[in-house]
Amino acid sequence: MYMNEYEEINVAEIPTATRHGILIGKILALKPQEGLVIKVDHDPKPLYYVLKEEHKMAFQWKYIEEGPINWEVLIIRESGYETMTVKELINQDLARMMYFANFDPDYCLHDEVTLQEVAGKYGKDVQQLFGEVSGIHQLNQPHIQYWNLSLFLDFITENYHSYERVLLNKIHETMQKVVTHHQEEFPFLQDVKERYEKLHRVMIDHFREEEEYLFVMLRSRAHNDQLASSYQHVEHDHDETLDIFREIKELTNDFTPYDSACPLTRHMYEMLRTLYEDVMCHAYLEHTYLTNYFKK
Ligand SMILES: [Fe+2]
Ligand SMILES: [Fe+2]
Repeated sequence: MYMNEYEEINVAEIPTATRHGILIGKILALKPQEGLVIKVDHDPKPLYYVLKEEHKMAFQWKYIEEGPINWEVLIIRESGYETMTVKELINQDLARMMYFANFDPDYCLHDEVTLQEVAGKYGKDVQQLFGEVSGIHQLNQPHIQYWNLSLFLDFITENYHSYERVLLNKIHETMQKVVTHHQEEFPFLQDVKERYEKLHRVMIDHFREEEEYLFVMLRSRAHNDQLASSYQHVEHDHDETLDIFREIKELTNDFTPYDSACPLTRHMYEMLRTLYEDVMCHAYLEHTYLTNYFKK
């Protein structure tokens, strides 16, 4: 009865090296209510767990033939991913954060926004959007949601604050040279520098606020008005940082160097983009981890 309705795949016919990727790709590309029959010489149950746990896919799994020599399974996609929140998708893989940040970090990252809502707002096809997001995978994913508070705060300080302090100074030095040499021909560079100097100040003060006040209070398990007000302050800084970055992105055409840009200018643009992406991850992790912490 299924033969005529659904595409069939004989797994043995797909080359071994690419088998897993092709199979998963085909299944993830199914639209709701579409199905696929998989024919294989062993029980494909592991695939069931990959789809459910790794890809959080909603689907029906029906055995048509269940061994002992051949197995046939019909997989039908059910609706479900549309109502997944952006946060859930990013929790599965942090590398997906920049994908959503490129739409609009304020909208996508600060609320319980669903994939369907993102698709609606930006005139995208939700199926295509989900396909693109599912394809983003990075190895050695840190599962930060399971870390204890102390480890998390160390990670933020040692991984993000330390690196961004160095990068902020490097960009500052490079920008001085670039602006001195090119501002006559490209006056907008002076505007970039002004925004950047503000960003630099806000971020350095912000790291100090976190390391010397907020994180210290969190480590001492204090729950008082000072902690609440420091947390509010930090969240306000995150918004301000994003706002300044938005202006810099606009001035630099999304960190894309102009055609005649010299190598040093190109290097400066690249460092600005790196800083932006690092800060986005950093602020996102702080926001989600600490929001959860305060909810407990
Ligand atoms: Fe931080
Ligand atoms: Fe922060």
